[in-house]
Amino acid sequence: MALEQRPVGKLDRAVIFLGPPGSGKGTQAKVLAGKYGAPHLSTGDMLREHIAKGTPLGQKAKPLMDRGELVPDSLVLKMVAERIERPDCSHGFVFDGFPRTVTQAKYLGELLRRQGFQQPFVIHMVIGYTLLIRRLTGRRTCKIGGEVYNIFDRPPKVDMICDVDGGELYQRPDDREEVIKPRLHAYDKLTAPLVSFYRRLGLLHEVDASKSVAEVEQEICQAVASMRGAG
Ligand code: AP5
Repeated sequence: MALEQRPVGKLDRAVIFLGPPGSGKGTQAKVLAGKYGAPHLSTGDMLREHIAKGTPLGQKAKPLMDRGELVPDSLVLKMVAERIERPDCSHGFVFDGFPRTVTQAKYLGELLRRQGFQQPFVIHMVIGYTLLIRRLTGRRTCKIGGEVYNIFDRPPKVDMICDVDGGELYQRPDDREEVIKPRLHAYDKLTAPLVSFYRRLGLLHEVDASKSVAEVEQEICQAVASMRGAG
């Protein structure tokens, strides 16, 4: 393993990426999880996997996700609880897209307490809506390895082909302009209240997500390193 890919230590708690669609949660969560050798738990990816496999959960989630609505708490909570019970989560993990409602946040708090974890560290990705639309409409994902591109800011070398494994790139169905609006509306109504929820608990760390990927990454890595030092 190359030196820069070696985990830098254990994460020791849950790190939560909180932010609107397209703010860069997935991009940064993947890097952070890789750095600490911790699982990257994206509830969006988990649900898309259920849809691809045609499971009963996937069948319930698909029409809601296609319309830009949230999947009901009860379904998501069961899926998450099962996932974090697995042994690879015993030293901490990185959530991307969860929790997304106050009910989910309260349930997670209880779950973490029961499993002996300390309080989570919440990274709030702060960004304006104009930039989000550009990031979401420009996103393309590899069908094979899941590598994420952006036709405006990070295009592949060959149009619609992944640089890493040659896979075909696709546009997520919920990245069409008509679905982006309801997704942002769902964020404002149901998820944005988590900012004050976690701020009141003193667990929130704000990051300027409008900067470049490298700058955002640096800010997050520094914040997480000082959290571990303080914890
Ligand atoms: P989910 O998959 O979680 O989507 P989301 O929250 O809408 O977030 P995105 O994946 O769209 O964006 P991101 O913030 O991860 O940005 P990314 O890094 O990809 O959820 C999808 C759906 O599943 C939901 O609508 C809901 O229906 C359901 N769901 C999921 N979790 C749920 C839950 N807990 N409860 C209920 N329902 C749930 O970046 C976006 C683009 O920008 C990319 O092209 C990237 O290359 C680019 N980019 C990233 N950072 C930068 C940067 N700094 N500068 C320039 N470009 C950048």
